[in-house]
Formats: sequence, C-alpha cells, structure tokens
Amino acid sequence: MNKIAKPILQLFNLTLSLVGLVTFLILGVGLILYLDVVGVKNPIEEKALVKSATEPVKSNALIDPAEVWTAPDWAKVDSEPNADEIKYGKELIANTAEYLGPNGKVKKISNGLNCQNCHLQAGTAPLGNNYLGVASTYPKVRGRSGHSEDVVMRINGCFQRSLNGESLPKNSKEMKAMVAYMNWLGQAVPKGQKPTGAGIYEVPVLDRAADPILGKVVYQKQCVTCHGEDGQGMMKADQTGYIYPPLWGANSYNQRAGLFRISKFAGYVKANMPFGATYENPILTDEEAWDVAAYVNSLQRPDRDFPDDWPDISKKPMDHPFGPYADEFSENQHKYGPFKEIIAAQKP
Ligand code: HEC
Ligand code: HEC
Repeated sequence: MNKIAKPILQLFNLTLSLVGLVTFLILGVGLILYLDVVGVKNPIEEKALVKSATEPVKSNALIDPAEVWTAPDWAKVDSEPNADEIKYGKELIANTAEYLGPNGKVKKISNGLNCQNCHLQAGTAPLGNNYLGVASTYPKVRGRSGHSEDVVMRINGCFQRSLNGESLPKNSKEMKAMVAYMNWLGQAVPKGQKPTGAGIYEVPVLDRAADPILGKVVYQKQCVTCHGEDGQGMMKADQTGYIYPPLWGANSYNQRAGLFRISKFAGYVKANMPFGATYENPILTDEEAWDVAAYVNSLQRPDRDFPDDWPDISKKPMDHPFGPYADEFSENQHKYGPFKEIIAAQKP
C-alpha cells in the first residue's frame, strides 16, 4: 500500500458509511410513514384511547335510566278480562275534556284540561307525573285530608283542584274505568313500593327565594311560543281540549292544586318543559325551573277554599302557600322560599 492509496481508501470508507446512514434514515422514516398509513398505532397512544373509551359518558339524566320503571306493553291489554274498561280509562285520561270538560259529552264537570296535560303520555312518562305507583301506594294516609285516601278520592282531588271542577261518583262507569287503567299500569309493582320515575322530580332547593321577576324572563324565552303572551294557551278548533293548555287565569288549575306548590311546578317543568324536554335531557337549569314556577304561580288563577284541608297544620309541606303554620315563617316565605331554613325548622 503506498502513501497515496491510503487517504483514497479512507475517503471510500467514509462515503460508504454515509451512504449507509442515509439509506438507514430513508428506510426508517419510510417504515414509520408506512405503519402510520396502514393504521398501526403507537402503543402509548393506543392505551390513552382505550382509557377514554371506558370512561363513563357524561349524562344529564335526572335519574338512572336503567332503574326507571316502565308501563306494561299496551299491545297486550286485550288479553285482560276487563280490556274495554282499561281502554276507556286511558281514553278518559288522555281526552278528559271531550268527555267531562265544559262541553263534555258524558258530563260537564271540569275546566277543559286533560289529565294527560299534567300526567304525560296518559300517565306513563318517567318523571312526567306518571301513575305507576298509584296501585301500589293507595290507600294511604295523606296530610292534606288527615285520613286514609283511596284511589277514587285521590282522582277526585285532581278533579276538584287541578281541573277546578266537581267529583265523579265512585260507582260511575268513568271512575271505575280510570281506576282499572291505573291498576293495570301498576300491576307489576310490589305493594307499598313507589317505583323509580313515578310522580314528580324533586328539584334541589336554592339558597335564595325563587324569583318571579327572573321567572318572567325564563317564561318569555322558553314558554311563550306555546302557552302564549297571556298564558292562555291555545284551544283546539273543535273546542274539545287544548293544543297548548293555559298556565294561569280562569281556565287553569286552582290555588289548592298540586302545581300551585312551586316545588311541584318546578319539578314538573324541570323534567318535561319546554315540551320535548325529558328526564334524560332536561332543558331548564334548577334556577330557571324554580323562578318560572314562582312567576306563573304569582299570577291570577281561580281560588277555592277547602276548609277541611290540613287538619294538622304541622303536616303542611314547606311550600304550602297558605297559613296558619306550625312555625314562624311568613306565607310569602312558604310560597317562594328560601326553603332551607324552613326545612331545618321542620326537622324534629
Ligand atoms: C294541572 C295539572 C294536573 C291535572 C290536569 C291533573 N293532575 Fe293529577 N296530579 C297533579 C299533581 C301536581 C299531582 C301530585 C304529584 C306529586 O305530588 O308527586 C297529581 C297527583 C295525582 C294522583 C296521585 C299520584 C300518586 O302517585 O300519588 C292521581 C291518581 C291523579 N293525580 C289523577 C289525576 C286524574 C285522573 C286527572 C284527570 C281527571 C288528573 N290527575 C289531572 C296535577 C294534575
Ligand atoms: C313547544 C310547546 C311548549 C313549550 C315551549 C312549553 N310548553 Fe308547557 N305544555 C305544552 C303542551 C303541549 C302541554 C300539554 C302536554 C300534553 O298534553 O301532552 C304542556 C303542559 C304544561 C303544563 C301542565 C298543564 C297546565 O296547563 O298546567 C305546565 C305547568 C307547563 N306546560 C309549563 C310550561 C313552562 C313553564 C314552559 C316554559 C319553561 C313550557 N311549558 C313550555 C307545550 C309547551
């Protein structure tokens, strides 16, 4: 080997290793790009994906849908010996005014509302004031009357207050049909049990009083399109009931009805209004529900005294808006809150 050949050889070696390095880099980058295209993922990323997929999906549901009781299958009603009676009962709940309203074809004993306006989907909607717990929990002693009430008395409570009307006789075909329908709805519920989703949602109480002025803003934004500027809703063309029921005024529920308590009104609208809201997808915040309840119940509606109500005044619920009371809080605070101190004072 001579003196010239040695540096040439060194240069050759250097070139060779450079080519090797470049080839290695090209192949390496090419491989990464290729794996990416065919969808092979970096194992670290993969772990992260699996984790986020198993995290629970965020839900606004007011109660767990898996625990909600549902009504029996309507398609099977014909297998019941009293199927006709049950069907007539459902029809009366859904279209009360047509049979028993101001122009009712059976009797004229109520204000034009349908039971279904407040007991949605004929009393089957979860947290839509449904009847699934009626057969299992009545008769029961109620604070309002001070004695044991059966289903007939409870139904007549809604006729006299929510429908601002008259009672139906216990043995009338109509009353028997409605009771039969409610018994059919609650057939699977064990005696004494209140099924999940029956009745009305309990909205957590606020730290402040519910505010009718804020509630008017909610009403204008969320309710006015259907229930109207004047709250009178919209009647069907043939006058047999409402497309949108009235929320106050002469044709609405009276001051002794359940919805006149703002906790009941707030709970009803939280899970059901504006129409289309459900217990799984409520639309109003808790504040909006309380405030709109305060607004609507601050407006004029029929009054009617039931002098035998609440024989024991200490049984009045926190938001019963008429004194006398067993505590020192005013009628105004019992009507609008704040309720926390009333609840604390009611605890024995
Ligand atoms: C304006 C609204 C409204 C209308 C209309 C109405 N109700 Fe009610 N009803 C209520 C409210 C509020 C309650 C109390 C719910 C609660 O306290 O959880 C109630 C409770 C009941 C209950 C007791 C439910 C239970 O589980 O304890 C029965 C039964 C009932 N209504 C039947 C009827 C019938 C039948 C009609 C039609 C003739 C009717 N209601 C119309 C608002 C209404
Ligand atoms: C898209 C139309 C629509 C909107 C908006 C709407 N409602 Fe209703 N509302 C209805 C209908 C329809 C019913 C009767 C449901 C039935 O019979 O199935 C009803 C029933 C009611 C009832 C019980 C019946 C009664 O007359 O007392 C109350 C209370 C009520 N709505 C309050 C509200 C409030 C408060 C808002 C606003 C937060 C609101 N609604 C927004 C359509 C609407």
